[in-house]
Amino acid sequence: MTPFQIAIDGPVAAGKGTVARLVAERLGFLYVDTGAMYRMTAYLAQQEGASMADEVALADLVEEAQMDMRNPNDEEKDGRLTTVLLNGEDVSWKIRTEEMSRGSSQVAQYPLVRQVLVSKQQRIAAQQDVVMEGRDITYRVLPTAQLKIYLTASDIVRAKRRHLQLQAKGQDIGFEEVYRDLLQRDHQDMTRPADPLKQVPEAWVVDTSDLSIEQAVEMIVAKAKILMDYAQTQQS
Ligand code: DC
Repeated sequence: MTPFQIAIDGPVAAGKGTVARLVAERLGFLYVDTGAMYRMTAYLAQQEGASMADEVALADLVEEAQMDMRNPNDEEKDGRLTTVLLNGEDVSWKIRTEEMSRGSSQVAQYPLVRQVLVSKQQRIAAQQDVVMEGRDITYRVLPTAQLKIYLTASDIVRAKRRHLQLQAKGQDIGFEEVYRDLLQRDHQDMTRPADPLKQVPEAWVVDTSDLSIEQAVEMIVAKAKILMDYAQTQQS
């Protein structure tokens, strides 16, 4: 059977991770957070002392690295959405720092790094049913995905969610700063010359501004089930 692929793109803090993870759980699919792979690249560069300006060296490091992701097992249920393994080491939390956020957005500018990561992502999605989320999934990584989604929310709603998340983590940053930072990251993601975030015409736009997580998950699971049934009738 051809694996079923759900491709999700969207801006920062639209709820992609949480929604994708829950959809994957409901359908029994693997959840793949591609942002984690850009974060692992930044982490690897730091560990190996590689220069963040050396695109070729960074791409070589990524090529040689073993990057794995799995749905968390019972011992790993500590609030993480996915378990991220770099050369066998559990780096699920180590890649979630502000330093790694900045580093990942730097390495994401490099076409050579992107090329190696995209190949790794395509190999993962060729072997099993996936819900894969990122910025270039609907048009670069999985251009033939059976279901393509652009998950978004208004910028104010996204900034409010991010602000709450930071407060929950004990980080006391003002709303205005969070809002400004979010707009800046949107701008960076959408104007990057190498594979910027964009909305493809065939993507289903799911705006979560006025939806609960549960409602967004329900909608996507329902649509995926219809498409999977249809694919099955076509194959039999
Ligand atoms: O979603 P995130 O914040 O974990 O992503 C980390 C960085 O990687 C962010 O700067 C966007 C970038 N990214 C990308 O360029 N392409 C992807 N498919 C996923 C993430």
